[in-house]
Amino acid sequence: MPSLHLAPGLAMTFTGKRYDFRDKAADYAHLAAELESLLAGEPDRMANAANTSALLFDALPDLNWAGFYFLRNGPEHGELVVGPFQGKPACVRIPLGKGVCGSAAATRTTLVVRDVNEFPGHIACDADSRSEIVIPLIQDGVLLGVLDIDSPRLARFDEADRQGLERLAAIFVTACRATP
Ligand code: SME
Repeated sequence: MPSLHLAPGLAMTFTGKRYDFRDKAADYAHLAAELESLLAGEPDRMANAANTSALLFDALPDLNWAGFYFLRNGPEHGELVVGPFQGKPACVRIPLGKGVCGSAAATRTTLVVRDVNEFPGHIACDADSRSEIVIPLIQDGVLLGVLDIDSPRLARFDEADRQGLERLAAIFVTACRATP
């Protein structure tokens, strides 16, 4: 298995672009094991979001943005506010129901957008984005926010990506369970 070595509490080593994702199920399973190691014993949500976005952006091919939006001001009149990410600077606030992120959050459903130009109300933070996947983050029935991943390639994300990334999102949510 490609390597992430975590000495207790300290050193870690990644080899860049170590997966080719020709076998998506297998490579997402490896990535899930890496993420579990990376987040093990750390409940801080921002720290875990920073490391999760860095891991995904480094490991997944053909991305131009990977990161988090977190729900602020409560679920009823809330909005999403950008959290840790990798990629170009992004829009900061997205109302629930707006854009791909706000729609995924409002419906609590993963959205796989094969062509962002065909998604009504898509919010273009990076003009290079052509396709996108947004996974809602739900902890014990409470919406925390979304994991948002963009690609400059049309139709970059498929059902195997949805399954793999939902598993990674679940690992993130579980790791952050103890965060106040
Ligand atoms: N495209 C998103 C906005 C966030 S950026 O992609 C980082 C949307 O339509 O909600």
